[in-house]
Amino acid sequence: MYTKKRYKWGILTAGRMSAKFVQALKLLDNADLYAVAARDLSRAKLFAEEHGIKKYYGSYQALAMDPEVEVVYIASPHSHHFEHTMLCLKNGKAVLCEKAFALDASDVQTMIREARLQKRFLMEALWPPFQPLYKKAKELLQLGEIGRLIHIDARFGLQPPYDPSNRKFNRSLGGGSLLDIGIYPIHDVLYFMGTPDSLAAKATFTELGVEESIQIIFGLESGQTATVLSSYKIDAGIGCTLYGEKGNISFSRRRDMSQQLIVSVQGKAPVEFCDTPLGMGYHFEAQEVMRCLDKGVIESQVVPHTFSLALMMVMDRVRGEVGIEY
Ligand SMILES: NC(=O)c1ccc[n+]([C@@H]2O[C@H](COP(=O)([O-])OP(=O)(O)OC[C@H]3O[C@@H](n4cnc5c(N)ncnc54)[C@H](OP(=O)(O)O)[C@@H]3O)[C@@H](O)[C@H]2O)c1
Repeated sequence: MYTKKRYKWGILTAGRMSAKFVQALKLLDNADLYAVAARDLSRAKLFAEEHGIKKYYGSYQALAMDPEVEVVYIASPHSHHFEHTMLCLKNGKAVLCEKAFALDASDVQTMIREARLQKRFLMEALWPPFQPLYKKAKELLQLGEIGRLIHIDARFGLQPPYDPSNRKFNRSLGGGSLLDIGIYPIHDVLYFMGTPDSLAAKATFTELGVEESIQIIFGLESGQTATVLSSYKIDAGIGCTLYGEKGNISFSRRRDMSQQLIVSVQGKAPVEFCDTPLGMGYHFEAQEVMRCLDKGVIESQVVPHTFSLALMMVMDRVRGEVGIEY
């Protein structure tokens, strides 16, 4: 089942998401948890000890320059994805960078150009397209189970404690709900329906001018529509419902990444599927990276560069519509 070669991973940051991703990497025989870097050496050391990582560095540069590191997982704030991805690519590393890929489409374009120039693998760490139930929803849609797709209603709403220094609420770190959680319901629209042609959006902001909630209506020239909610203000859950001519498909997940799919076709009893993937489902992304490295390709067909670019271009349009600046 696993690919042939073992890859030496470097983990760039000792933050919360890095800790989750490392747990997932441990599930894979061909992933060598080789090194971690934090801005502060003692943090890196602590993280390395906690997770059984061989080497630790007190700077990201040092990690990027370690000739043994083959692939780097980047989990810094959104504001730093561009800088850290460029650093690693320029030092010849393959890169799996957390969502949102960068702050805007122009930076994403530069990152993709650099990956091509350096002939190094680059992928945005988008969780949904690797999840079995999410893929099943797409398969059922393509098989015509609910007929023609007419509308999508997608949401991601949670209530993190307000802390203006936290990356979620800090504008200079790319804070706000859009890049952090709004990216998921917008991803759903592109993944299941396609790139929207028009949009209208409304946002609310904290007293410091950081976006905290957005509602969007998307339209496609085909006549299909989508509504999206991204919010730090309400506990709206996480998921999407695909409405077709003959029924609907509803995908939802909890914060622990357990997932549920309900398929309701007119005239039939609803069918429910549940799944709680190992490693919160993050190992699927790592597996894909190593499969691509085995093949010697620089992009994944599951999350191609064009998809990440299209996603960011839509988010740029949303930002323009509601006046978000980083
Ligand atoms: N795929 C998912 O399901 C998922 C879930 C959660 C988060 N994420 C993504 O993962 C990334 C990190 O999120 P997180 O929740 O792990 O955040 P976090 O706990 O705040 O960690 C962010 C890390 O970024 C580093 N950093 C570098 N420059 C920084 C600066 N100027 N200010 C603050 N931190 C700085 C810090 O690393 P040091 O250790 O070096 O100090 C910090 O540990 C984000 O892109 C987020 O969207 C993805």
